[in-house]
Amino acid sequence: MIRIDSVTKRYPDGTVAVDRLSLEIPDRSITVLVGPSGCGKTTTLRMINRMVEPTEGTILLDGEDIQGQPVTTLRRSMGYVIQNAGLFQHRTIVDNIATVPRMLGWGKQRARERAAELMERVGLDTALAKRYPYQLSGGQQQRVGVARALAADPPVLLMDEPFSAVDPVVRKGLQDELLRLQDELGKTIVFVTHDIDEAIKLGTMVAVLREGGRLAQYAPPAELLSAPADGFVEDFLGADRGIRRLSFFASAELDLTTDAVVPADATAERIAAVKAPHLLVTDPDGRPLGWAERTGLTAGDIATDRLLPFGRPFVPGTDSLRVALDCAVLSPTGWAVAVDGGGRVTGVVSQQTIGEAIRAAHTESRADKAGAGVAE
Ligand SMILES: Nc1ncnc2c1ncn2[C@@H]1O[C@H](COP(=O)(O)OP(=O)(O)OP(=O)(O)O)[C@@H](O)[C@H]1O
Ligand SMILES: [Mg+2]
Repeated sequence: MIRIDSVTKRYPDGTVAVDRLSLEIPDRSITVLVGPSGCGKTTTLRMINRMVEPTEGTILLDGEDIQGQPVTTLRRSMGYVIQNAGLFQHRTIVDNIATVPRMLGWGKQRARERAAELMERVGLDTALAKRYPYQLSGGQQQRVGVARALAADPPVLLMDEPFSAVDPVVRKGLQDELLRLQDELGKTIVFVTHDIDEAIKLGTMVAVLREGGRLAQYAPPAELLSAPADGFVEDFLGADRGIRRLSFFASAELDLTTDAVVPADATAERIAAVKAPHLLVTDPDGRPLGWAERTGLTAGDIATDRLLPFGRPFVPGTDSLRVALDCAVLSPTGWAVAVDGGGRVTGVVSQQTIGEAIRAAHTESRADKAGAGVAE
């Protein structure tokens, strides 16, 4: 939908903010521009809605050069969200959100109804409608900013560090909300951040820029983590790259065993059949109670009040390999407990088995890539 084709921006003072940047921004997905301060992220975003004009190169929207389109028409198709929301301080929340519809000539009533609908969409209580921006928290203001950008239902959303000014907890909430909203609305979003974790969480594609507005790498997050293009990208990704990459692998295929899972009233034969050094003891509904050491255990004497904690269980199919590994690492026995959606144990799995699955996943993704190379 948006194609940036060898675009350079040189400001009048000679600063090269963006240097021959080419990017294909896929439709209906979130593309993240990430990089250190001053690497040209904002400049790039602003060239897309022509708040800044490129010095060289072209930007195409649906195959047409945006240079040939009236700026007002172009901007109407692009919502814009900035850090601190940039709300109109003298207007109420509802009127802030209704700004663009009103500009487009909607009646007051219809615009306000649309605003109320959007407040709900972005997770804001409509009771806040009559307040002024200073009467809202930073996180709430940011939601208003998103609602305002969505008001006229533009196909494109440009977001410049929209969540940078809020604390980590609120920020996580806003990120989750954006992903949920995107599932519903399917906008083409270009999202700027200098936070690589935010980029990896939100991006379908991530463009890592370096000083001087040069593209260091453009790839899906899992590929950035597995194959950083160079030392700059690797440094920028930071430590734990391998562990973080496990977020992109499912835990559904893990080989679970039910051998060592026994009810508190297990028979002697059942206990004797357990090969592992620990047993996971469950209640009559199959929910985990804790771990017991096998040595010395006989039927009928599993003291459920003296079990080792089973830790946090994971849900295969929902949770990633990273979560499964974390559960095993935190478990006093080194075994992770798998449960179904209702919290009933479906099996247990050792760190070693998870390690084997990780190696297999890595090998598979390398093979996939090699296969893709051949196909091209
Ligand atoms: N109007 C301007 N005139 C001259 N130089 C500018 C102008 N706007 C930006 N720059 C320079 O262009 C470069 C890129 O700026 P830009 O705002 O695009 O960076 P950024 O990646 O968004 O940074 P940050 O993460 O700090 O927001 C910087 O060196 C900046 O100083
Ligand atoms: Mg910026």
